[in-house]
Amino acid sequence: MKAAVYYENGGPEVLRYETVPDPICPEDGVLIDVEVISLEGGDTLHRARTPLAKHPHIVGYQCAGTVREVGAKAGHRKVGEKVVAIVPNGSHAEVVAARAATTWAIPPGADMRELACVPVAFGTAHECLFPLGATASGHRVLVHAGAGGVGLAAIQLARAVGAEVVTTASSDDKLARLVAMGARHGVNYKSSDLVQAVAAAVGPDAIDVVVDPVGGKTLQDSVGCLRYRGRIINMGMAGRDPVAFNPLPLWAKNGTLIGMSLSTSLAKEHERTYADIAHLLDRVATGELRVVIDKVFPLAKAADAHAYVEGRTAFGRVIMVPRA
Ligand SMILES: NC(=O)c1ccc[n+]([C@@H]2O[C@H](COP(=O)([O-])OP(=O)(O)OC[C@H]3O[C@@H](n4cnc5c(N)ncnc54)[C@H](OP(=O)(O)O)[C@@H]3O)[C@@H](O)[C@H]2O)c1
Repeated sequence: MKAAVYYENGGPEVLRYETVPDPICPEDGVLIDVEVISLEGGDTLHRARTPLAKHPHIVGYQCAGTVREVGAKAGHRKVGEKVVAIVPNGSHAEVVAARAATTWAIPPGADMRELACVPVAFGTAHECLFPLGATASGHRVLVHAGAGGVGLAAIQLARAVGAEVVTTASSDDKLARLVAMGARHGVNYKSSDLVQAVAAAVGPDAIDVVVDPVGGKTLQDSVGCLRYRGRIINMGMAGRDPVAFNPLPLWAKNGTLIGMSLSTSLAKEHERTYADIAHLLDRVATGELRVVIDKVFPLAKAADAHAYVEGRTAFGRVIMVPRA
């Protein structure tokens, strides 16, 4: 099969399009002929810095396609079924091996390109907002990096329960589009002071829940936006900012910083998390929630796709298509 692989960590230019052996079908899983690859924010960070599991390494957390082989202990999946999968590695390829426990059926008639982008981004946003953040109607929610996959999901999910959403982005153009997606207020965190701008939007010390995929200074400054007993849920470091978190300012708010990993939720509370993601897929399939696809690249141009995402002009998801 063809895959986008790399032999060392680095910038997008380390990605090469090569022929590699097909993966082997796991006993408890399936082989999928990949039709759509959702380029996750985590894929770019993984390529840049995570030690390689294999040489060459195939990066990638999420894809969708058609099941071509079913393992002996994965009987509920069927050859020919359309599925979306979360995998620890390997989505940037024509064929992917996935555990059946992290595959979801794509409802008939649903748009595979959109559903390919749902489990990680929407599952993560949901996990941050509700099981961990206890977001409810009337809460004020600050969603960082609103134009990213997790951010766009968090804005819609918070809005859907009646929360008031403040979101951040690095351009006014993105912010205008985020208001159209359900955010009440937009803050350009490149050109304004975060704490002052959020206070100007909703008042000082007014944020109940922060969803933070950015980390670094953005995470630290978020403490200054919290209300008494507010909660910050950090699950990413998209900002690539090595600033270490200082917990002392949390004391003044009796605030809470929560870390979150979707793979931990899937491992520790599998049934509940799996069902939550299935429900999110249904909500996207019925049009209640939206996936915004910014651009489509052939898998052969994976290096260009990664560079485009890291250029920070994308609004929503970039997807890649094998055999294009
Ligand atoms: N823990 C988990 O289970 C989990 C699950 C999903 C995602 N994540 C993490 O969450 C983060 C976001 O994921 P995503 O899929 O939403 O990513 P994405 O779609 O690529 O969006 C990332 C956003 O981060 C912002 N950003 C800020 N500084 C950046 C920089 N230096 N380079 C690139 N983008 C930057 C960009 O918006 P602006 O330019 O507007 O700032 C961009 O829209 C990633 O760190 C990912 O690893 C973690």
